[in-house]
Amino acid sequence: MLLSKALLAAARRPALRAAVVRTPATRAVVDRFVPGESLDDAVAAVRALSAQGVAVTLDHLGEDVTDRAQAVRSRDAYLALLDALAPLALGPAAEVSVKLSAFGQALPDGGHDVALELVRPVAEAATAAGTTVTLDMEDHRTVDSTLAVLTDLRKEHPGTGAVLQAMLHRTEEDAKALAVAGSRVRLVKGAYDEPDTVAYRRKKDVDAAYARCLELLMAGPGYPMVGSHDPAIITRAHELAAQHSRAADSWEVQMLYGIRPDEQRRLAAAGTTVRAYVPYGADWYGYFMRRLAERPANVTFFLRSLVTR
Ligand code: FDA
Repeated sequence: MLLSKALLAAARRPALRAAVVRTPATRAVVDRFVPGESLDDAVAAVRALSAQGVAVTLDHLGEDVTDRAQAVRSRDAYLALLDALAPLALGPAAEVSVKLSAFGQALPDGGHDVALELVRPVAEAATAAGTTVTLDMEDHRTVDSTLAVLTDLRKEHPGTGAVLQAMLHRTEEDAKALAVAGSRVRLVKGAYDEPDTVAYRRKKDVDAAYARCLELLMAGPGYPMVGSHDPAIITRAHELAAQHSRAADSWEVQMLYGIRPDEQRRLAAAGTTVRAYVPYGADWYGYFMRRLAERPANVTFFLRSLVTR
């Protein structure tokens, strides 16, 4: 718990980034979670996964931008990504995930509007390519703004999806509001260090909240995206799909690139729609630190690689 808290705090501190990034051993460990820094690396990962029957959602790594120019670069990276995906003709099997903090959401003057203005062309390009955008969810202070961007985008791009974090107390209400026809919701546990005033802090409470939200979403007419590596959750999702007579194309399981890849392939081969979240790009530090914080085994793996090199 303490280690995880320290790693999550470090994830938000760019000053520590250089120390971690410059370690040669880091690269080998990062490769497990991030297929590469270039667009070509991302496209190669998409080809490999789709050959295994696994759909993808691509994340151009970046978050917490501090000026508009950086936010414009995020937009342009996504437009280039959607262009690069077009020849693969995968349609909805290759979509994109965006973090609005990379689009300027936290900029002091009108950040919300900047993010909406810059993400809109990405949603337009995705629709033109026959695919969708999913809005990742960041710390709890961004939820209202992100859900407002979702509402705006869905007017013209109804397939736009959002992420709900089961750990937040508010999420059951948000899940009820979003369990409607046409809505795409990725339910996750939540990767940010949140105060107990707004979030469940104990694993067992987060798991119970996840189960309640999952039931709401699977019972509704929307398209639930079950974002978890947890075997108990995956089993429960299949039980609920059977109980509500859901067709295999009316919901999906999502896992992160490099985590339980055998299970991703196994589920896909058994007929479940599976999508891997594929992050790529140079700015992998925050993403990588959150993955370390999630699982002590990942930290052990990282430390071992530092001493064995
Ligand atoms: P948890 O970490 O509690 O693990 C439960 C069990 O799963 C473990 O006991 C083990 O059995 C299995 N497991 C987990 N990791 C494993 C591993 N590395 N190897 C083998 N088994 C493993 N968060 C957020 O705040 N905003 C977001 O937008 C997103 N987006 C997102 C997209 C997708 C597709 C996923 C899968 C996750 C996210 N997340 C996220 C992250 C999410 O909030 C959460 O931190 C991680 O998914 C970890 O939680 P789990 O549900 O996987 O279970």
